[in-house]
Amino acid sequence: MIRKIKKVFDIFFKYCCLYIHFAPRKNNGELVYLRSFPEATYAPWFQDIFFYDTYTKIKKYSLKDIYRLYELYSLATQACNYGGSFVEIGAWRGGSAAIIASAKKKMLNSNDFYLCDTFEGVVKASFIDNFYNNGEHNDTDLNYVNKVFDKLNLMLPKVLTGIFPDDTGNEVSDNVSFLHIDVDTYQSAKDIFNFCQNKFTDKAVIIFDDYGFFETNGITILCNELKNKKNMTFIHNLNGHGIFLWNKV
Ligand SMILES: C[S@@+](CC[C@H](N)C(=O)[O-])C[C@H]1O[C@@H](n2cnc3c(N)ncnc32)[C@H](O)[C@@H]1O
Repeated sequence: MIRKIKKVFDIFFKYCCLYIHFAPRKNNGELVYLRSFPEATYAPWFQDIFFYDTYTKIKKYSLKDIYRLYELYSLATQACNYGGSFVEIGAWRGGSAAIIASAKKKMLNSNDFYLCDTFEGVVKASFIDNFYNNGEHNDTDLNYVNKVFDKLNLMLPKVLTGIFPDDTGNEVSDNVSFLHIDVDTYQSAKDIFNFCQNKFTDKAVIIFDDYGFFETNGITILCNELKNKKNMTFIHNLNGHGIFLWNKV
């Protein structure tokens, strides 16, 4: 009897988990989030030995999956032809930053770029954001970043500690060709984009990490607002990235 009850409970529990995992979720009745399964199967992230080796060394220092990290690596590689600086806002323990820096080092033999974080967690959460309240992801410090760059034998990039752009924006003096915004909240991402848009090189790529996720709905809203801006083409990648290709001419 007890066995039977346990079996029924197990089946019920499994279905509950499946439902939570796959059921569509709505945000304020407007945005729908539903797990996507593309039909495509090409998987260069397993084939590129340099990337895969780098990924295995840094994965503990990142909250991102292999799909987004590979896309950062691939876009950073291509942006090396655009001539400007690389900037990441929202580095946490430095995992995605290390992937970007490795791509730059491989292409240009320099991994010079701006790595920005408050190191005190997420900021500027407002009524727009579903999930964040400020202070999340504060479980980090510069030692983690040092460690991951050391693991890859990379020089430590320029680290800007504080809220970007409010505290540290003025330290980015050059033009920007690669911008990774991974900050989770609407207002934080908006201020960063507005500040950086006057600095873009003729061609630039801007990646919003959090476009496709229910927990970071503020970023979905922001990218949807920016979609019709002049000089930019928007790509919604099913890995969750919102990508803007900037082309001034
Ligand atoms: C999800 S974590 C970044 C994850 C990281 N890119 C990785 O590879 O896993 C978001 C980070 O953004 C930082 N952050 C949010 N808004 C910021 C701002 N305006 N300026 C600087 N850092 C910010 C937080 O401190 C937090 O560490």
